Formats: sequence, structure tokens, C-alpha cells
Amino acid sequence: MGSPLILGIETSCDETGVAVVRGHEILASVLSSQVDAHARFGGVVPEVAARAHVEAIRPMAHLALRQAGVHSDQLDAVAATRGPGLVGALMVGYSFAKAMAWTLETPFVGIDHMEGHLFAPRLEHNDFEPPAIVLLASGGHSQIVHVRSWGTYEVLGATIDDAAGEAFDKIARFMGLGFPGGPAIDRAAVAGDPSIVKFPRALRDRPYDFSFSGLKTSVVTFLEKAKASNAVPPLPDVAAAVQEAIVDVLVDKTFNAVEATGVERVAGGGGVLANSRLRARLQEEADRRGVALHLPSPALCTDNGAMIAAAGEFRLERGDLTPWDIDVSSSLRLADL
Ligand code: KG4
Ligand code: ZN
Repeated sequence: MGSPLILGIETSCDETGVAVVRGHEILASVLSSQVDAHARFGGVVPEVAARAHVEAIRPMAHLALRQAGVHSDQLDAVAATRGPGLVGALMVGYSFAKAMAWTLETPFVGIDHMEGHLFAPRLEHNDFEPPAIVLLASGGHSQIVHVRSWGTYEVLGATIDDAAGEAFDKIARFMGLGFPGGPAIDRAAVAGDPSIVKFPRALRDRPYDFSFSGLKTSVVTFLEKAKASNAVPPLPDVAAAVQEAIVDVLVDKTFNAVEATGVERVAGGGGVLANSRLRARLQEEADRRGVALHLPSPALCTDNGAMIAAAGEFRLERGDLTPWDIDVSSSLRLADL
């Protein structure tokens, strides 16, 4: 028997992602992005997100199956994000997936969104196996996870306030760079000189935890002062300095965990791992220390259905099927899995 054929559905935030995956092979992965619908509000509006998922879910599922050349009755399981995320958004994909599995009389698996991000590197790196230190950084979470084995996760540290992606988004909005802020800062920073100002790196005394809300305050203060004295530096320089401050702490703390655990494999997941400077710095540091680094390609760092299918395969094989009466949960935690 080969690997099972899994349909993965992701609707926890503002992307409707559906994928068909067999083993490590992505047969199809499609995405309907709501960026334009939210851009005019400067952030994700939960009600707008849920409605957009309702419109997109059926066509996306249809498209994924067609692109994969698969009929729904060939599926061995349907997997969908159960949480954490926006409740209304989660319910759309989760209920759709449940109804599909029910009708097809095939197993259903509800997946922790962050476990999905943990599995994303596996889709492109056959040799990615625990034990590993994984940096998860997205719009809602920033965590350093010691993956002892699949299914056994020790969260070594996390943000005590804003997530890294949230910091990118809020600061970019203040700078007038638009939404989502991470890609906007990444693009602007290419032409920037980060040395014009050194923004603070918080929580130096805690090896694995993050704090990003103070960074936002110092950027606001810096720009307001600069404006008052008519000396606003070029925005690309400010973007580069902001990016450097966020990347510095993410890299430092990830490798603090590598050092303390002696683990020789590092990986990453979540939208912030699409950041070009973060990817380059992680690679430099991994090379310097001679540890393996497994980063998903940028499209698999941001939310997608393939990572949910990959985690779904693991849960299916473990027999962790989700009972029909279990609902979505906006506050699922990796450490509780
Ligand atoms: O994992 P993800 O797609 O959704 C959540 O689970 O939150 O992450 C989205 C976050 C957003 O905050 C976005 O600004 C950030 O990832 N992001 C980036 C980049 N691409 C997306 N941050 C920095 N640089 C990027 N290139
Ligand atoms: Zn995510």
C-alpha cells in the first residue's frame, strides 16, 4: 500500500487553501487569497473573512481535485484546520470538510494549524525528521518548538505580546506601506540601509521568548521625532532597520535553543519565514554551526492546504480521527496535542 491520498483544507484566517497530497507529493495546491478584500481595512476583518471563505471553498475544492486528476471517492481522508484562528473562518472549511468526509464515508481529521506549519518543511525535504528545533512565526504566533518526535512538541518559548507577523503588519501600516505588512517591508528593505537606526531588541535576558510591542512603539517615536525635526529618513532605510530588529531576535533565540538542546536540525514555518532576510540569516547561522536547515519555499511558509494535508496524513496513520461532535477551537495549543 502506498501513502494515503489526503485532501487538506485551510481556512483559519484570510486564505482559502485546498490541496491534494500523497505522501510528500503535492498533487495540487490552490489558494484563494482575500488580501484585496481586507486591504482597505488595513487588516483582516473576521466577518469579511468568513464570508469570503463561504464563496471560495467549493470552487477551490473542486479546482484542487481537478488539478490533481483525482475523484473525491478516491480520497483516503479529509483533513481541515480545527484551530487556532478566527472562529467564523475556521467553521467554514471545517464544516465543509466534515460534510465531505461524512458523505464520502471517509475518515475526517481536524488539524492544529501550527502543527500544519510544523509539517510544511516535510513536503519538500524528505530528510526532515525530528528531533528538530522549529521556529514558527506567523501573523498570530511566534514560537520556538522542540519537536522531539512527530506529535511530541515542547514549546520552549513564545511571544509575550505581539507575534512577529503582527509586528510587521502594524509597523508597515503606521509607515503607510500597506497590508500585509511583512511582504511590504521585505520588498522596501531590499533598497534600504538598516544601519541608520538601531531599534531595541527586547527580552535579551530570556533565551527563547519574544516581545515585539515595544519595537512598534520605538518606531512610532522615532518617526514622530524625525518628522518634527523635518529629517525623516528614506522609508526603505527604516524598513530595513525594522526588519533587522525582528530578524535578529528570531535568529538569536532559535539558535539559543539549538545550542541548549544540542539538536542538529532546524526548520521553520509560518508566513514570516517567507522573509528573505530571515531566510538568509538562518542559512548563514546554520552553515556556520554545521546544522541542517529545512525551510519550506515561501508559498508553503504562508497558509496553505498542503501543510494541513501533510499533518493530516500523520494523524490518520496514528489513528487520531476526529469524532463528528468535535467542533472548531480558536484557542488550540500545540503543547496540548
Ligand atoms: O502563516 P501566515 O500566512 O498566517 C497566519 O497563520 O497568521 O502568516 C501571515 C503573516 C503576516 O503577518 C504577514 O505579514 C507575514 O506572515 N509575512 C511576512 C512575509 N510574508 C508574509 N513577514 C515578513 N516577510 C515576508 N516576506
Ligand atoms: Zn499560519
